[in-house]
Amino acid sequence: MLARFAWLTKPMPRDPRAHWQELATAVEYGRAALKVGLWQSEEKLIAEHFDRAARLLEVGCGGGRVALGLLQRGYLDVTATDFSAAMVEVTQGVLEQAQPGWGARAELQDATALTYPEASFDGVIYAFNGLMCLPDAAHRARALRSLHRVLRPGGIFFGSGSDRAKGALAPHWAKQAPDETPGDRWHETSTSPVFMHSSTEAETYAELQEAGFKVLASPLSSEVAVESAAVRAFCGETRFYVARKVSGPAGAAS
Ligand SMILES: C[S@@+](CC[C@H](N)C(=O)[O-])C[C@H]1O[C@@H](n2cnc3c(N)ncnc32)[C@H](O)[C@@H]1O
Repeated sequence: MLARFAWLTKPMPRDPRAHWQELATAVEYGRAALKVGLWQSEEKLIAEHFDRAARLLEVGCGGGRVALGLLQRGYLDVTATDFSAAMVEVTQGVLEQAQPGWGARAELQDATALTYPEASFDGVIYAFNGLMCLPDAAHRARALRSLHRVLRPGGIFFGSGSDRAKGALAPHWAKQAPDETPGDRWHETSTSPVFMHSSTEAETYAELQEAGFKVLASPLSSEVAVESAAVRAFCGETRFYVARKVSGPAGAAS
């Protein structure tokens, strides 16, 4: 008899997207844009792989931290996007405050279904765990295919994600509930719980390769630069992925 009502005691599944749509979370990310800024490691790798005239698309832009850093460093062809209306609004405010007119560079777009024409960008940036906060591997694959489509042949993907196998924070990221997919985990934050996947290098290599990218470099942030205390408190250690678009979605050479 009781078994018939077991579903009543099961917790409701949480929506991994909800956290990002809250205004309070967007405000936190807007604060990071102003107080934390571009990390030294990001700045170094961006300078290495993108020239200032590059047409850059940022997906999952949060409160405009990376877009602001890029614009301030003379990367003027930047389109900053996020699927959260609250994030886009905060980014517009942050950019417009820095320079009248820059606010118009932030747009609402879902990384898994970008609406830009094929091959319209030289580079795509998906910073600080952007790919890893998508709900599952199928969403990550959809996002990578969508980014691949809007990149020109030979264009560069630059992203980062937590590593559960190597690096100082691996033991932290490796913890999970026993019934979860390896790397999937909900974390407490100052606003609401956030879903995050932490990967291994091999796993993200395979996902990038499957979408038609060749990985060029994948260093830990600590191997690229020594970060300030503010940056370390914001993001800890993360692994970067720099990859080139080498083939079409079905694996055909382009
Ligand atoms: C961990 S935050 C990183 C924010 C920003 N890139 C930074 O470095 O400060 C992840 C961001 O990805 C966004 N996001 C989550 N799912 C998305 C999707 N399907 N399409 C676009 N953005 C998404 C969230 O709204 C959030 O702004």
